Amino acid sequence: MASYMNPEQIQRYQNLEFAFPEHTLRGAAILIPGGTGGLGAALVARLLMEQAIPIVGYLSNKERARRVGLKLESLYGGTVHLVEGDIRCAPERKKYIEFASQFTGRIQGFACFVGDPARANFDELQSTDLAKSFESNFIGPVLLAKEVGEHMIARKVEGSLVLLSSMQGVGLFERSLNYAVPKASLIHACRILAKQWSGKHNLRINLVAPGATVVGMAESSIRSGKYDGFIDRQDICRFGRPEDVARAVRFLLEPDSYVTGQVIAVDGGLSLKA
Ligand SMILES: NC(=O)c1ccc[n+]([C@@H]2O[C@H](COP(=O)([O-])OP(=O)(O)OC[C@H]3O[C@@H](n4cnc5c(N)ncnc54)[C@H](OP(=O)(O)O)[C@@H]3O)[C@@H](O)[C@H]2O)c1
Repeated sequence: MASYMNPEQIQRYQNLEFAFPEHTLRGAAILIPGGTGGLGAALVARLLMEQAIPIVGYLSNKERARRVGLKLESLYGGTVHLVEGDIRCAPERKKYIEFASQFTGRIQGFACFVGDPARANFDELQSTDLAKSFESNFIGPVLLAKEVGEHMIARKVEGSLVLLSSMQGVGLFERSLNYAVPKASLIHACRILAKQWSGKHNLRINLVAPGATVVGMAESSIRSGKYDGFIDRQDICRFGRPEDVARAVRFLLEPDSYVTGQVIAVDGGLSLKA
């Protein structure tokens, strides 16, 4: 018999007995930096419906954070635990991890929605624009993911981490250097961490790359008609919804998932046309 075959498992599959556990995140502490934003709030709703423990981070917009937290609690039950802090700063990242650890003693899942549209005039692009975008869209999320991963490894948590890239990090959208390049770098960083962690630790890290979605940082562009051409030209048949993104992130957070180092574009096919 091979060393890594489980006879009971073989027997079950010979009997066509498959297991698809449900509510697998019930009672699990999930850290969601940027979860008060347009896309993150949908994941928080999904997790509340499953009776997980969402710990939701934001930068400084206390008023929005409180409003989103209270509304989600009233609609879906449970408690939204809010934590304020800038994930570009090491002490603030430490604060996030310590705060999120106090509920079950460890963080079991992580989905980082932090991002900055990094709008800058392409023709006058400065090094400061690029540096600023890298800080919010790459450095903060990558360092926090690395630190949460190390927290999980130290506590033998078989957890999942998810980072948010963008269709612009996957496809080639002209003039999008400032936002797209840090988002593309995130994909490479995620693959390096996935390679490093897989096999040794049962820890997974993946990305979701949303397309033009009707809430959050793309809302004003969609509202202004800036992206209507995507539908007029039949590049996509509709704009994205926050639930589209939340579903993909939730799939990747599955504790027993066998997926790592991958990017799921949730963009209706838009990055295929870019
Ligand atoms: N919406 C889209 O169509 C779209 C498309 C492609 C990719 N994405 C990506 O998806 C993710 C979520 O986007 P969204 O539209 O939901 O964004 P959003 O509505 O602008 O929300 C951003 C969230 O991140 C927080 N945040 C920003 N910088 C932070 C920092 N340095 N430290 C801690 N928290 C910080 C914000 O807190 P405050 O409210 O306190 O500022 C807010 O909670 C982003 O990574 C974005 O790049 C979005």
